[in-house]
Amino acid sequence: MLTSQRDLFDIPRDICYLNAAAWSPLPIGAVELGQAGAAKKAHPWEIPEDFGRQQFERARAAAAGLINAEIDDIALISSVGYGVSTAAKVLDLPRNSRILVLENDHTAPVLEWLARAEAQDLEIETVRPGDDHDWTSALLEAIAKRAERPLALVSISSVHWSDGGLVDLDRVQEALRAQGAGLLIDATHAAGVLSYDVASLDPDFMIFPTYKWLLGPYGRAFIYVAKRHQGAIPLEQTSYGRKRVQAEDERYFTDLDYVDDARRFDMGERDFFVSMDVASYGIELLQAWGLDRVRERLEMLTERIASGLAERRVPVTMPRADLRAPHVLGLGFPNGMPEDLAGKLAEHRVYAAPRLGRLRISPHVYNDETDCDRFVEVLANVVQ
Ligand SMILES: Cc1ncc(COP(=O)(O)O)c(C=O)c1O
Repeated sequence: MLTSQRDLFDIPRDICYLNAAAWSPLPIGAVELGQAGAAKKAHPWEIPEDFGRQQFERARAAAAGLINAEIDDIALISSVGYGVSTAAKVLDLPRNSRILVLENDHTAPVLEWLARAEAQDLEIETVRPGDDHDWTSALLEAIAKRAERPLALVSISSVHWSDGGLVDLDRVQEALRAQGAGLLIDATHAAGVLSYDVASLDPDFMIFPTYKWLLGPYGRAFIYVAKRHQGAIPLEQTSYGRKRVQAEDERYFTDLDYVDDARRFDMGERDFFVSMDVASYGIELLQAWGLDRVRERLEMLTERIASGLAERRVPVTMPRADLRAPHVLGLGFPNGMPEDLAGKLAEHRVYAAPRLGRLRISPHVYNDETDCDRFVEVLANVVQ
């Protein structure tokens, strides 16, 4: 099994940080790259001409490798919301159609559609799981349902940010194919831990940021765009989205045709180099460890916490192991969540996130068994 990678991070021994799903700490090597990137801007005349391209193609290749995409199918963007807005512009959904979203899903895969609903006459249907947190069954039921409006799109997180519920994307996609509906996946809480394969899954879009599970910076994200959508007009209009618009040329707007692949969707100011290698670094670390080994380690850590809580008879609930992601534990409190629970944990240098009435535990490769046992001990004392 992958060992703890704590030494690669600047995390004091008494810090028990179980909040990667909010934002992960940067590895020390990534911090150094960020410092080097900032220093470059102090001496712009020293920056080699091809530096930007090398950097962003490195990032693009790293992101593609996470989900088994071709490098040409990945665009560099700033946030998941940017990606969803791109998808909305690309898809131009027919009036009178229906979109499925998950109850209390993060704003990113939801609000763009709500914002368009009235003007485009779209019905946004919210899928609610039962008390068992079985998101997949709830989705399959909603997809199969006879509805007045045809289903155009499912726009969902593949791991729910609040309870860690896991969507079985293969089953959802199979059901969608039968209806000819599209699939947008917000893979924020999956990319880097769960092995996705867009070549076989064939979603329309898959989007993920770097600042959580990818051990990277804010302001960097990626969108996979299926080839069938790569002829569409991007959200932003950039010079590098076109075949030839170059300041150095005598004529500026030389060839305004869009570039042929997903690079046309790259965001403006893409080349911001301070954070680019920082983003690649975390992804490349994960790839070097192997996603399956990362998942296996995180599963071991969440299971240790789950069984530790059960042994101590701490009064908490959690979704069934087969219905939740292996790396996120959403703890429910049948007797009510203690007031200011996060604050009380932080007094013991333990960090986890209250989310929609649950306490979300999200370990990463820098956590170890000591962290898990401390968390159990501290939570048991606070709750009982
Ligand atoms: C499921 C999910 N999607 C997206 C985001 C971030 O979205 P954005 O990059 O648009 O800020 C988060 C952040 O918590 C999230 O949990």
